[in-house]
Formats: sequence, C-alpha cells, structure tokens
Amino acid sequence: MHSRAADSGVRLAELMAALSIATDLGMGQPLETALCTCVVAMRLGEALNLDGDTLRDVYYQALLRYIGCNSDADALAALMGDELALRHDFAVVDTGRPPEVLGLAMHFLRQASAGEPPYRMAALVARGLLTLPRVMNDSFAGHCEVAQRLAGRLGLAESLIVCLGQLYERWDGKGRPRGLKGEAVAPAVLLVSLAQDAVVWNRIGGPDAAVVTVRKRSGGAYHPRMAERFCAEAPTILAGLDQEPTWESVLALEPGGRDCLTDTEFDRACAALADFADMKSPYTLSHSPGVAALAAGAGHRCGLVEADVTALRRAGLLHDIGRVGVSAGIWGKERALSEREWEQVRLHAYYTDRVLARPEPLGRLGALASQHHERMDGSGYHRATLGPGLSSAARILAAADAYQAMTESRPHRPARPPEEAAEELRREVRSGRLDSDAVLAVLAEAGHRVPRARRERPAGLSEREVTVLRLLARGLSNRVMADQLSVSYDTVKHHIQHIYDKTGVATRAGATLFAMENGLLL
Ligand SMILES: [Fe+2]
Repeated sequence: MHSRAADSGVRLAELMAALSIATDLGMGQPLETALCTCVVAMRLGEALNLDGDTLRDVYYQALLRYIGCNSDADALAALMGDELALRHDFAVVDTGRPPEVLGLAMHFLRQASAGEPPYRMAALVARGLLTLPRVMNDSFAGHCEVAQRLAGRLGLAESLIVCLGQLYERWDGKGRPRGLKGEAVAPAVLLVSLAQDAVVWNRIGGPDAAVVTVRKRSGGAYHPRMAERFCAEAPTILAGLDQEPTWESVLALEPGGRDCLTDTEFDRACAALADFADMKSPYTLSHSPGVAALAAGAGHRCGLVEADVTALRRAGLLHDIGRVGVSAGIWGKERALSEREWEQVRLHAYYTDRVLARPEPLGRLGALASQHHERMDGSGYHRATLGPGLSSAARILAAADAYQAMTESRPHRPARPPEEAAEELRREVRSGRLDSDAVLAVLAEAGHRVPRARRERPAGLSEREVTVLRLLARGLSNRVMADQLSVSYDTVKHHIQHIYDKTGVATRAGATLFAMENGLLL
C-alpha cells in the first residue's frame, strides 16, 4: 500500500461496509446482513473459481446493492404503510412466484387500511393490488438507477455499475427491470442474490433451511451451477457467520489495493451519501448539503481551525444518514406524532452514530454528526448531552440543522420565511437550548444581520461567557448565577473555567478587572 499526501484515513471498503449497515436498516434487515452476504458470496465465488474481476464486482455489489433503497421509500410507505416491515418480510419471498408476492402485498395493504370501514378497506386493497405491478416495477427500476448513479459518484468500476442495473434480474427471466434471462444476467448479480437469500434462510432455520430454499429456486432465481455448488458446500460456506467478527472478515476479503480514499474522493463520497440520506423523504431533498454549507461557513466565522471546519462540513453531509432506519411513513406524517413514533424519530440520531461507528476516522465524524439534535439544556436527543459536553462544532451543527430545517417545508407545516426562522433560533438561544455564538454565526452565514459587537468580544469570549463574566464581576455566587441563567451549577463552573482560560486570569478579581478594562461592564 502506498501512502498519498491527502489521505482521508478511510478505505473504500470500510466506507462501503459502513454504508451497508445503513442499507440493512433501510431494508428492514438485522444489522450486518449485507456484511454476511458479502462473506458468503465471496466464499461461494471462490468455490466456483470465478475470476478476480467478477469477484471484485461480487464484493462491492454485496455491500452496495441497496444503496438505492431510499428512492421509493416514500411511495411505498404511502401505499403499504411501514415499508421497513414490508421489506423485512419481502426478503423471504420468491419474486418469481406471484402467489407469494400477492399474499404479502394483501397482508400489508390490509394493515395499511386498518380502521377503515369494510367497504372502503376492500376498495383500498383492490386499488393497491391493481397498482402493485407498476409500483414494483418503478420500485425495482428506481433502486437500480439510483444505485448506479450513486456508485458512479463513489468512483466504482463500470462493470459493477452494470451489475447494479440488474439487481433484481433472475436466471429464469422473470426478474426486473428488464427481464434478462440466463447468461445475459451478470454472474455477480446471480451469485449475490443467492448469497443474500442463503444468509436470510440460514438465520431462520440454519444451513438446512438455506439448502432447501436454494435447491427449490435453482433454475428459477439462481444459476443452477451456482445453486448446486452452494448446496454441496453449504456447511463450509455458511460456517462461523454467527461467531466471527464480520466487519474484520469483510475487510480481509477486499479485493485489490487497499489505499485510503484521498480527501477529495472522500468529500465526493460524503456528498453522495448525503443525497442517499436525503432521498428518504421528498421533504428533505438537499437538506444535508444545506446544513453542511451553513455549518462550515459558521465554523469559519467562529474561528474554528481548518481541520474542524472540514469535519463540520462532512458531519453536516452525513448527519441524517440514520433517517434510513425510520419508516418514510413517519417522516411524511402530517398529523402530530405519537409517543411511539417519536421514539422512532429519536433513534435516527443513534443510527447515524452506529452507521458511522467504524473505522475510527469515520467514527469521529459520526460522533459529531449524531449530536445534531442535542440541546444545551439537555432537552435534545439521543443522548440528552448538556452544553458543557457539546463542542463548538456540535453547537454549530445543531444550529445549522435547526435553521436549515425551519426554512424547508415539512409535512405538518410550510417552510418558514428566513426572518421567522431567525427569530425562532434567537428564541432557542434565550431559552437556553441553542448556543448564542453558534446561532449568530449560522444566522450571519445565512445572510442575516447580526450585531457587529458579537464578533468583537475580547479574548474570544462567547456571548454567554460575557454574560457570566458580568454576573461574576457583580459578585454573584455560582449558585445564584445558575438560577439566574436557568442552567446547572456545573455549567456555570464550566463557563467560568473557560473565561479564566481564555482571558488568562486566575481569580474572580482578575476576571472583574479584565471585564472593566475591556468595557464589558459599561
Ligand atoms: Fe436529524
């Protein structure tokens, strides 16, 4: 492996493996399903003596095949209810057998119209069944096209992009989107389809269940030669999936060079993943690049060093990747969310954290990205971290996300005009939820007028710290200050320490004099 000057520290395979965790969530599958599929597909590919180029396509396709999964989430949820539950159940269906597909569709259509009077439910189910073929066609074709475009932006090989265009094709020609048949379907496509089903059935009933299913579908969904080899070697091919650390196994199988992505390649990949995330709902299209630009600009204004601004921009692009794990039905709901739905919404920040947990450089970004709904007073999610636990970057990201979201329409409200959003953000500062410096920097970046004095505080003191310094100079105890500012005792202590550190004083008297010298008490 040769080193390059502008390494991001993240290998392509690592990024793809992380992305596969996101698509597991989006397909309603247990985490690491795609990682297991990758291991099984590579073992089977080697047993079949496939050439190196095909194995490379197998490897990346196994990780990436559902990168288009957000493209139809909203339409599917509108018709069928919870698209994640539907996809979970769909994973065991043989798409070449209409009764299996129809049975599952009936079940979800009934569930989606539960509570309606019987005649209306019957009409809704009937209409749903009529539109089903079109919905499935659009859905599969959309998955393929979006996957191909995103893979192109991730810099993946042309042969892999061809495979992604055939995701749902079958050996017997009953697949989609083009109904290709036999050898016309890329071997990597047929092999990964088989491997994925084997992983699902192995989970349900062990190697025996996987063998029974593969044998039954041989010559249907699967290439007979591949099915035969799988059935002959199933115990070896499926061995250890429950015990092995799948992440390491997958990385060890990476074909070819193991260079890290350059900074430029990584930035391009982050932008592609932002679009992947934002496609989950028509209300959030281009939300993430908006947050990234605002946050990075605000970071500059707050004097963050270049490396921190870069991290902030990337975290802005990736912050909502966890949305994939929450049903589009919830993101598109017009009425108030129930408690249970709110729990789901809260989870998206946690999912962002978990998707980006590995490797370490991505983990650092994930830790920041997943804090975008945290609030200074601890009322945010998913960790309810208090202000002192939130870095400047995290505060800026939260303010940028809040502003960007307010100026976009949501199912329950129209987009707010910029002035109204700015006023709302200022209110959030007054109520102690968002950081004053972060909000002013975001508002300035968004083109709002902010008080010039804001940027002229001495020693880099924040507006909040100046407030604390004034109270400190007036001789208030920490306890009284905490009450007056409606923050915890520890928060006050934290602010005071910051004031001391920034101004280079060591005592309350020294701080008071500093305040006087700098006209802060006028
Ligand atoms: Fe979010």
